[in-house]
Amino acid sequence: MTENSIDAVVLVGGKGTRLRPLTVSTPKPMLPTAGVPFLMHLLARIKAAGIEHVVLSTSFKAEVFEDYFGTGESLGLDIEYVVEDEALGTGGGIRNVYDRLRGDTTMVFNGDVLGGTDLTGILQAHEANNADVTLHLVQVGNPRAFGCVPTDATGRVLAFLEKTEDPPTNQINAGCYVFRRELIADIPAGRVVSVERETFPKLLEDGYAVYGYVDNAYWRDMGTPGDFVRGSSDLVRGIAPSPLLVGRTGESLVDESALVKDGTLLLGGTVIGRGTEVGAGCRLDDVVVFDGVTIEPGAVLEDSIIGHGVRIGANARIKNCVIGEGAHIGARCELQDGLRVWPGVKIPDNGIRFSSDA
Ligand code: GTP
Repeated sequence: MTENSIDAVVLVGGKGTRLRPLTVSTPKPMLPTAGVPFLMHLLARIKAAGIEHVVLSTSFKAEVFEDYFGTGESLGLDIEYVVEDEALGTGGGIRNVYDRLRGDTTMVFNGDVLGGTDLTGILQAHEANNADVTLHLVQVGNPRAFGCVPTDATGRVLAFLEKTEDPPTNQINAGCYVFRRELIADIPAGRVVSVERETFPKLLEDGYAVYGYVDNAYWRDMGTPGDFVRGSSDLVRGIAPSPLLVGRTGESLVDESALVKDGTLLLGGTVIGRGTEVGAGCRLDDVVVFDGVTIEPGAVLEDSIIGHGVRIGANARIKNCVIGEGAHIGARCELQDGLRVWPGVKIPDNGIRFSSDA
């Protein structure tokens, strides 16, 4: 097996509902993360593993991907796009790109996973085991929150178990799979299929060689606001690796077109996007600030995502919130506890306190 005989398929068709309202206008894999659309970090890892042909399996806001990446030439990749008119789910999305596959081996990625796993290691294990399918598995602290995937001593997958109070293993599906290409043709076409709930259990039932590859590299599903903020700051601080940030990691990442006034503290892996202005005396700790944002003097922000074109008034305090595109938060307002402000909403000045459970 050479890298040229491997196709990468990236599933990017989901609606990203858990990250609303940011995903109302932008698909989750295109949200700015440590200065670039999230998907750029994954594509850079695919390229670093020597794979060049990438098929993006799209549905929701499909045009955004092609407009941004085009043929992929500038990234040294050959990118194709397949669009689902109706979302087909993770398994359906894989089946739908079958005609575009060129090699014998297909490496499928969830487009919202931030990871540091050695992709070459997964491919080598797949080959060494003569596997039909190899799944990347990660060990988590709280497996009760996930379906789990027990394996035997040789790494062969024994079952795909739904969430349970008493999981027999802490190994969960990490959202990266290697398939022998022909198996993809057997996934039912033209209807919704979940790869986790339908395809993998059926492959086990039919006796195929399904193996797990477990490692301890960095891994995070960027699906919720809390994980998105943490993943972004881990990239900035070099805790999560990305080929795009080698030699550029630190306590914060400020776009060169942004303006940050003196006396402002940027901490915890905070990112400041293009054309954003941050006034004097602000404190931002573990915050993702998108492009074209204005933050007036004295604002204190923590563990939050600030969407494109937002304006935040002087001395406002925002903790653990998501602020949608173009919203205005008045001076001295206090927002906290997972509050999500919808795009374009204007909250007047004067220190009104909002929280999601108020
Ligand atoms: P939530 O709505 O917040 O659960 O997010 P999501 O829609 O992205 O779903 P989920 O996180 O379960 O999806 C995992 C990966 O599969 C993501 O990269 C999605 O973009 C992708 N995905 C989910 N559903 C589909 C689909 O119907 N078609 C395709 N092509 N990709 C999908």
